[in-house]
Amino acid sequence: MRQVHTGIEFPRFGATLQTARRRAGLTQEQLSTASGISVRAIRDLELGRAHRPRRETIRLLADALGLSGSHRVLLESGSGHDAVDSTVRQMYEEQVASPPAATSPLIGRERELDVVAGALLTGQERLLSLVGLPGVGKSRLALAVARRYEAEREARVLWLPVSSSPTGLLPSGPAPEPDRAQALLTAWTLDRLAGRGPLEDLVRLIGGRRTLLVLDGYEDAAVDRDSLLRLLAGCDGLQVLVTARAPLPVLGARAVPLAALPVGGPAGGPDRGGERPAGAAVRLMSSHVRYTRPALRQTAAVTEAIAGLCRQLDGIPLALNTAAGWLPMYAPEQLLAVARDNPLHLVEPVFSGDFFPGESSAGPMGEPDLGMLIRGTVSGLRPGPARLLAVLARRGGACPTDEVLSLVGGSPGDVTRSLRGLLLRGLIREERLPEGGTAVSVLNLVRHVLRPACEPAPLTAVART
Ligand SMILES: Nc1ncnc2c1ncn2[C@@H]1O[C@H](COP(=O)(O)OP(=O)(O)OP(=O)(O)O)[C@@H](O)[C@H]1O
Ligand SMILES: [Mg+2]
Repeated sequence: MRQVHTGIEFPRFGATLQTARRRAGLTQEQLSTASGISVRAIRDLELGRAHRPRRETIRLLADALGLSGSHRVLLESGSGHDAVDSTVRQMYEEQVASPPAATSPLIGRERELDVVAGALLTGQERLLSLVGLPGVGKSRLALAVARRYEAEREARVLWLPVSSSPTGLLPSGPAPEPDRAQALLTAWTLDRLAGRGPLEDLVRLIGGRRTLLVLDGYEDAAVDRDSLLRLLAGCDGLQVLVTARAPLPVLGARAVPLAALPVGGPAGGPDRGGERPAGAAVRLMSSHVRYTRPALRQTAAVTEAIAGLCRQLDGIPLALNTAAGWLPMYAPEQLLAVARDNPLHLVEPVFSGDFFPGESSAGPMGEPDLGMLIRGTVSGLRPGPARLLAVLARRGGACPTDEVLSLVGGSPGDVTRSLRGLLLRGLIREERLPEGGTAVSVLNLVRHVLRPACEPAPLTAVART
């Protein structure tokens, strides 16, 4: 029997069978009547006394349980047969690995969506990467791109959640059955992309068909870049969209840096020329306020506080979503006061399973700790970019781009490369100066991460209104 490296462990057949039977609402006796398999055989299978059911037995049970698609695939793959290759093929044919469903609307990103989806739909690009800070919305945008691709071209989308630490698209905790099917396909594909299995299997699976392969949360170690290029060479209709926190070390991969959501007006700031339409960040935060505090009147002061909060949190969607978890207890003005002191207090998941058993061990709405993720990105920097980031953070405010060189010294080439690396990772942002030219500034959250150890969260000290 050929060894199949799936990299994941599936429950034994018995556990899979029992879950499927209970989901179908059948007793062992009822399943026996429907399938023609004896009650005793079913009981032995569920108890793990019989490990290797015959294929025909599996077929009869799956038919009686009314299983199809991923559920059927999982029953088969849990059977212990070497059926993984064929079940993966079946999953691809049946579009089981389609993108996950988004549970809330995409706010803003119209232009980014048009640019990225357009480049893929016209066939202009075959390998694109969305890069940026953790939580900036790379996966969320990739999801919208994948949906548009799937709808407009009747093409296949293979959505592979590569990262072990996604920020929020997929629920944490034990995966439901369709996610385990996804995990099987992901593991099978990644084995081939990482050189642990024959790449030809994957080339044969996709063939010449129009397919968008989304590697969501690319980590360098997980995918062998030569394999990726060989796969592209072997499959004419294949396009690859990658989401990553750092630029891909793959020759010719075009990087699309994803900036934070704009804050815009009405509190664009006195230096911004007064009223401007509310930006996507403000719209996202306002929607949280509307749902959490329906009775709160959106006065000018409230809108001003929301815009201030968004600015303090740099317009990072994950930061806004996590901070919104505090809204049941604190008004936007109070949260703004906390954020002005230290915005990290609002993005650290203070509520956790420690307080409320059964809740996620991440934030109040399942978010991970953004401060920790940013710390991870900063600590992964090489010495040159790390020094430049520290100097820019100490300087504070926006630094005209042509003054950056004089700040750190070193060769212009090295400083430019460092600057580019920081911009692509989303740790600094670029803005146009009114008098012409550009300036760069360190994100507020990043600046606070670079500060020495911060004090305990002062939220409890804020009086409730
Ligand atoms: N434009 C948007 N509108 C509404 N919600 C958004 C938007 N962008 C991101 N979000 C939400 O913000 C959270 C973080 O986004 P996402 O998971 O896409 O970040 P990411 O950049 O992929 O982070 P990571 O690098 O950790 O994978 C998710 O809950 C996502 O649904
Ligand atoms: Mg992501």
